[in-house]
Amino acid sequence: MSQFKDGILTGKVALITGGGSGLGAGIARRFAAQGARVALLGRTSEKLEATAATIRAAGGEALCVAADVRDYAAVDEAVRRTVTTFGALDLLVCSAAGNFLAPAATLSANGFRTVVDIDLCGTFNACRAAYAALATRKGAILHITATQAFVPTPLQCHAGAAKAGIEKLTRDLALEWAGSGVRVNALAPGPIDDTEGMRRLAPGDMAATMRRAVPLGRFGTIDEIADAALFLCSPAASWITGTTLVIDGGTALAGGARFLELLAPTS
Ligand code: HXC
Repeated sequence: MSQFKDGILTGKVALITGGGSGLGAGIARRFAAQGARVALLGRTSEKLEATAATIRAAGGEALCVAADVRDYAAVDEAVRRTVTTFGALDLLVCSAAGNFLAPAATLSANGFRTVVDIDLCGTFNACRAAYAALATRKGAILHITATQAFVPTPLQCHAGAAKAGIEKLTRDLALEWAGSGVRVNALAPGPIDDTEGMRRLAPGDMAATMRRAVPLGRFGTIDEIADAALFLCSPAASWITGTTLVIDGGTALAGGARFLELLAPTS
């Protein structure tokens, strides 16, 4: 039984890729607190189990399915296990991602391909595997992109290309699947505190410098991303599909040129 029997997601089942840590874990906790039963998909069982334990401790229901989003058969099996365990699938959140800072001039072809494979192909794999189950429930899909998808950003050509691909996939799937009642939207977060992404993209002193460059004066929080995810996956967004909601404290408004200054010393 979930903590909130009358939550906005009571009766819903959600599968969250990258659900063991960071934004995915925060979204999973929020969905569970709002009544959803959640399946957490990720590569590392220990991370999945730790997040599931916090959900269960709060009275929620959580299933852990260890899988790599690059492996279609494993993702397909994760969807099957979710439906078998919980009886349905209403919501899919594609949060699994990989990233690192690397200059395009020295990034290997395999490094570029690896990030595109995790972010873009992994997102397609999850959507493709989940579609049939989602269609029977007129469900919803949420992709996690990033402002690098449309703000040119040094040392991020691999992740930016992958996230831009996800944004286009969001609109294409939204159009193709609207007839089945499946909504497809995306969130584009800016810098978020306490995430693996920020540890990788703004190490050491760079975090304080980047924080000062956010128009609203601070990094976002995982809770703020979970709020937006809840909105887009809830009945409150029932006529919204094919959109990307930017949630970045205004960071993208200022453009990417200042990142050149911020990141140049590491290139
Ligand atoms: C240059 C690198 C690199 C680095 C890896 N590679 N790290 N190149 N700089 N720092 C290259 C490797 O040399 C290799 O190419 C290729 O990438 C694959 O590396 P592997 O380690 O074999 O891959 P894998 O074990 O699958 O690991 C995937 C990973 C890793 C992305 C490289 O960092 C990872 O697992 N990350 C998961 C967690 C994560 O990154 N979370 C943060 C997401 S942040 P060669 O040619 O040597 O074989 C995020 C936020 C926003 O998404 C994004 C903004 C757009």
